[in-house]
Amino acid sequence: MTALNETASTKRDRLKEFYYQIKDCRLCELYKTRINFVFGSGNSNAPIVFVGEAPGRNEDLQGKPFVGQAGKLLDELLLFIGFNRHDVFIANVLKCRPPENRDPGVIEINTCKNYLFKQIEIISPMIICTLGRYSTQLILNTSANISKLRGKIFKIGKSIVLPINHPAAALYTPSKLRILREDFKKIREIFDNYEHPENVGEITEVYGLERMYKARADSTGAGENQAGETLLGETGTGKAQAGYTNSGKTEAGEVKADDTNTFGAEADEFKAGDANAGEAKAEQFRTGEEKVPESDNRRQAVEDKTQQLGLF
Ligand code: URA
Repeated sequence: MTALNETASTKRDRLKEFYYQIKDCRLCELYKTRINFVFGSGNSNAPIVFVGEAPGRNEDLQGKPFVGQAGKLLDELLLFIGFNRHDVFIANVLKCRPPENRDPGVIEINTCKNYLFKQIEIISPMIICTLGRYSTQLILNTSANISKLRGKIFKIGKSIVLPINHPAAALYTPSKLRILREDFKKIREIFDNYEHPENVGEITEVYGLERMYKARADSTGAGENQAGETLLGETGTGKAQAGYTNSGKTEAGEVKADDTNTFGAEADEFKAGDANAGEAKAEQFRTGEEKVPESDNRRQAVEDKTQQLGLF
């Protein structure tokens, strides 16, 4: 099972290098309370990337995503459709735990999202499965409710995007668990019909977002010294570029009409209030990067962490 283009080892190298570049991130306030930066884990050549919300307590303690109750359920659901954790890649919208597991904040999401986009760009998966509201709204650049989007099939570039409910929501609600199982079956069907996903259901192509993600992912690259620009210069890019067309009906217009993505819209607030902070943070980021020594120690540290994250 492989994802699109590039060799597995190139992707692994790029992903682990990227991990090393961002692991000490201090671009938002969450670094102050985190125990671990939770990069994500799994197969760097995964055909499926799952995107959750943010690390919780267990994830923060262990430095890996989905290792608590919701993670156990995710493992079961993966097995149910013939996969395991090592076949897929699991990441989150936020890499650091919000205190008391509160909801991710707009600034945190806007600050962290390019890391996710970069990971997706490197892995280039066949399927992106968004788990719950935050990852769905971010990846589809919409503020539409998850209940409207759940189970629908979207296409961004070469990747199919399937929004489903967050496993945590199904932990204690049997009816939600049934829906989640159905949605996991759909993941399998899409995987099996990757060349012809229309066999599984109507496809809504989302034009423009791929370019937007690519641009942002590129600007996240270490050594580019653009953290400030990335933080401050992104308002509305997605809105301008994203165009939803639908092979069949105009249903997708619903998504478009509602397309004032919270994360984009409120970035203005940040822009107005935090211009200097952005540059200061960028400087911190740069400084952090430059401290990474090119030495055997560094190589060993990257390898050790790679093993721990199960990147292969
Ligand atoms: N919930 C998430 O969204 N992510 C995790 O990593 C764990 C729980």
